[in-house]
Amino acid sequence: MSVEDNKGNPPAQWVYEAEDLQGTEQLAAALAKLALPGTVIALDGDLGAGKTAFSQLFAKHLGVKDTVNSPTFTLIKEYEGRLPFYHMDVYRLSLDEADELGLDEYFYGDGVTLVEWASLIEELLPQDVLHIYVETVSAIGRRMHIKGQGGTYEAWVSALKENGVS
Ligand SMILES: Nc1ncnc2c1ncn2[C@@H]1O[C@H](COP(=O)(O)OP(=O)(O)OP(=O)(O)O)[C@@H](O)[C@H]1O
Ligand SMILES: [Mg+2]
Repeated sequence: MSVEDNKGNPPAQWVYEAEDLQGTEQLAAALAKLALPGTVIALDGDLGAGKTAFSQLFAKHLGVKDTVNSPTFTLIKEYEGRLPFYHMDVYRLSLDEADELGLDEYFYGDGVTLVEWASLIEELLPQDVLHIYVETVSAIGRRMHIKGQGGTYEAWVSALKENGVS
């Protein structure tokens, strides 16, 4: 993971403790509220940590009414909410395969993109991105390591850090 953004500043960082699924939902809701056209959130974490669960809750708060399934086999799924919602899982993709999919059309499009296993395609991600690493701490507890890279996301992380998620 790159530790410096294009201005040479270190990314804004914050650790958020989700005590349970509801805690994860509060973070997802706060970020869905901030989301803009072209927002890209890079999700990482162990198998079964909660990347899809976070994505489903984010989609719900973005106003997506359809059921959001794990995109592990479909690779990319598009949904309609307040903004278009693009949900990707690149676990099964090689870097070359991901490159051929033309992901920039999603990243720089009108919608919001969430990428599960994003670190596998780090070099294809936009310069500015919000990284969330989901760490499992107990059956229902998750520690979210959040890193805002680029001005917009740095501001988001600073605001969340200061004001919390509710
Ligand atoms: N606080 C929490 N936050 C997120 N998920 C939680 C939490 N507590 C329990 N869970 C459960 O953990 C599971 C996470 O599974 P999920 O499919 O979201 O993981 P994943 O990271 O997407 O896995 P994969 O690597 O296979 O894509 C879900 O069953 C979810 O309900
Ligand atoms: Mg998943």
